[in-house]
Amino acid sequence: MNTRPSPRTVSIGLAGLGNVGAGVVKNLERNRDLIIQRTGCDLRVRRVLVRDPARARDVALPAEALTQRWQDLVEDPQLQIVVELIGGTSTAYDLICAALRAGKVVVTGNKALLAERGQELFALAEQCGVPIFFEAAVAGGIPIIQVLQEGLVGNRILSIHGIINGTCNYILTRMAQAGLSYQEALGEAQQKGYAEADPTLDVSGWDAAHKAIILASLSYGFWIEQSCVRVQGIESIDPLDFKFAARLGYVIKLLSVIRADEQGLVEVRTEPTLLPQGHVLASVSGSYNAVLVNGDVVGETLFYGRGAGQDPTSSSVISDLCEAAMIQAGTLRHSGFVPHGLYGRSKPAGETLSCYYLRLQVDDVPGVLAQVAAQLGRLEIGISSVIQPEDLEDSSGCTPLVLMLDAAPLARMHEALRALEALPCVRAAPSWMRVERLQA
Ligand code: HSE
Repeated sequence: MNTRPSPRTVSIGLAGLGNVGAGVVKNLERNRDLIIQRTGCDLRVRRVLVRDPARARDVALPAEALTQRWQDLVEDPQLQIVVELIGGTSTAYDLICAALRAGKVVVTGNKALLAERGQELFALAEQCGVPIFFEAAVAGGIPIIQVLQEGLVGNRILSIHGIINGTCNYILTRMAQAGLSYQEALGEAQQKGYAEADPTLDVSGWDAAHKAIILASLSYGFWIEQSCVRVQGIESIDPLDFKFAARLGYVIKLLSVIRADEQGLVEVRTEPTLLPQGHVLASVSGSYNAVLVNGDVVGETLFYGRGAGQDPTSSSVISDLCEAAMIQAGTLRHSGFVPHGLYGRSKPAGETLSCYYLRLQVDDVPGVLAQVAAQLGRLEIGISSVIQPEDLEDSSGCTPLVLMLDAAPLARMHEALRALEALPCVRAAPSWMRVERLQA
């Protein structure tokens, strides 16, 4: 007769019972039997760090499980795994360090902390002989960390292009499709619960940049410095740019790009970028995320799904918990972040190469185009197309002049922008974005 061994109980300390933390408790309960069948482990949340134990909650936990002292999660020898979902970079850092030192496996969704102090934390994890899992830190429910660590382990990663902030993608989608202003689209995103009351981390591009740093570090085996990453938010995109982008056959997305060049220099950037309308990433709308990974063996692979929210993000935390539990049970081995130093150097942002979209507000008089072209020519930046719409001249005689520029290093583009802004015929700060001419 085929009898299953009784499941091994694994005890968890959970820090943070907000949206995602509550989702972890709820969904562990919902799929308990399935998880036991698949992993042989019965995952039990025994202790929970909360800010206010008296607060009414959707999930049922015994009052004695709640604590306001993070140290309780570390000091309790019964707890084998500590899940950090409190966010921030101070208490979360102290908790994770103490948990590792106490020999507990750590699961975290804290992208800002990993992007800022990942190198120290993974070195400590190595020293303590316990892994840190972080699937929920990037792209919510999309299991992109496992993809890079396991599914594509036999590949050199050539590039990653990702739409990895749902809030920004929702705002940009509404600006493009409904013609809303940035403020209107942000208000709508807040109303629907996609954007936080303080949306700064998302709209500044930094949330996506933190995720890009993690993906790049995993892909290239050395920890990427934040200072080497170019980050630009979506706050100042003008609705006019969506119109011109569409006319030129592009959409505007907050795109994270990670790419190694032939010398092995790694560029990491997150900024509003024009993508061809026909490209698969262009159709990623609303709050969805997508990550396009190009490996030297596999070619292009695309991962799509919800990048935020209670259930998708708790799905990733639970995946980490299962892996952590199987490690504790001795049925799986995992080495966490593996530094392999294949490449090892970040590319300075100024050297990164791309094509550009440029919109100038210029005097509508003869000779203006020649002056603009002369500045670009002097800096050896080619022009691939020009639009000067006849119907958009304003009452002061100014008109938009839109140019698509050939590939040039970012530093040279900055020099060109300074030169153009200094021309008397250019009446406002130029609006410009990178263009990724990805093949559809
Ligand atoms: N706020 C993020 C987003 C999810 O909008 O995608 C958490 O990183």
